[in-house]
Amino acid sequence: MGQKQQEQWTSKLGFILAAAGSAIGLGAIWKLPYVAGTSGGGAFFLIFLLFTIFLGLPLLLAEFTIGRHTQKEAVSAYRTIAPGSFWHWIGKLGVGTSFLLLSFYSVVGGWIVIYLARSFTQGVQGLEVNQFGQMFEETISNPFLVVFAHFIFLLMTILVVQGGVQKGIERFSKIMMPALFILFLIIVIRSVTLEGASEGIQFFLMPDFSSITGETILFALGQAFFALSLGVSIMVTYSSYLKSGESLPKSAVSIVSLTIFISLLAGLAIFPAVFSFGLEPAEGPPLIFIVLPAVFSSIPLGNIFFILFMSLLLFATLTSAFSLLEMVVASITKNDAAKRKKATWVAGILIFIMGIPSALSFGVMSGVSFFGHSFFDLMDFLVSNVMLPLGALLIAIFTPLKLKKDALYEEMRRGSSLKRVMFDIWYILIKYVTPIAIIIVFLHVLGAFDLF
Ligand code: PFF
Repeated sequence: MGQKQQEQWTSKLGFILAAAGSAIGLGAIWKLPYVAGTSGGGAFFLIFLLFTIFLGLPLLLAEFTIGRHTQKEAVSAYRTIAPGSFWHWIGKLGVGTSFLLLSFYSVVGGWIVIYLARSFTQGVQGLEVNQFGQMFEETISNPFLVVFAHFIFLLMTILVVQGGVQKGIERFSKIMMPALFILFLIIVIRSVTLEGASEGIQFFLMPDFSSITGETILFALGQAFFALSLGVSIMVTYSSYLKSGESLPKSAVSIVSLTIFISLLAGLAIFPAVFSFGLEPAEGPPLIFIVLPAVFSSIPLGNIFFILFMSLLLFATLTSAFSLLEMVVASITKNDAAKRKKATWVAGILIFIMGIPSALSFGVMSGVSFFGHSFFDLMDFLVSNVMLPLGALLIAIFTPLKLKKDALYEEMRRGSSLKRVMFDIWYILIKYVTPIAIIIVFLHVLGAFDLF
């Protein structure tokens, strides 16, 4: 038996970019704008911000603390802290959640691959807005195209994750994340300088509280967890690859700030353009696939901007997909590098098969309904509204219950100068505020879908 090679990030920056890469993805760039567009614009964004800061940040810090404390991937981490109990099921729930989440996440990843390929071959110049709507419908309902693209997206993910934490995930995140920020800034500058852009900026940034409903609040909470990759224990696994000297609170604050910053950029890229072109912000899921091509089709060098945007969306989506696959792979290999390649391929292929019905949900399987939802919507509902909040709730209960307060403080202070008062605030947020808020929202969500 050879010595097991412990996976590790090479630098603090590598860890932050990989964790930010997991967080920043379809949640911030695709979901947030369309949900904000249908649920009150600025008011939604403000509530999302509050949840992200007061619930998301403490949870992220809790996941980091568990991971670095144990130096083990999620399932083993919970088992180490609470041996012989059922708590390691939080980790297993995370593995199952990652598996299902990646199966439909990769379908949307595939759409991006298709759009990117199209931007190189036929371009977007000269088409009318309604033609983009039609193009989107035709794209997502073509069974061979979507399944093939889903496969290509997963293949890219597998090829990186099989390379391991340093040579795969960290290396690619270090290139993709800075590229994403630069590309995004270029797009935002273009968007906010369009004629009539100010109306869109106002829609996105000026909260109109009259538009807040119970539903707005529920969506904002789900969005905050989804956009920070919380409740899946991915951040436990990622922080287990950290050497001990890094400041966990600082890393958590950096990741939350980066995610908020990108969410802000996404809104500023999209809403000014929506209003400038007289489109509807409440377009729903196709929003970026219709609005942005329409914008790019009518400006000089539009095709280049379109290629840039689709590339950045692909980078952001891939770095999130890496973390989802890594969560599954790490739970199989338990840090044994020799098993990584095989585990990555087996997990990847199973995820591909699981994703096929989701890929077909907008075409040949659109008539097949599961509890009134398409297969894709059912998966999204199950993951985003049931499994993620449940995982987050269990982590919020587990952390103060199974780790002593002093041990938590010690772990968080390693490599940081965290003040006791800040720690005490975190402790109250994680022990009381987070679980109570999740339970309230959780019951509402289930109620809203008539499951009880
Ligand atoms: N945070 C990712 C996004 O916003 O697109 C999605 C995600 C990745 C959610 C990993 C949960 C997760 F564990």
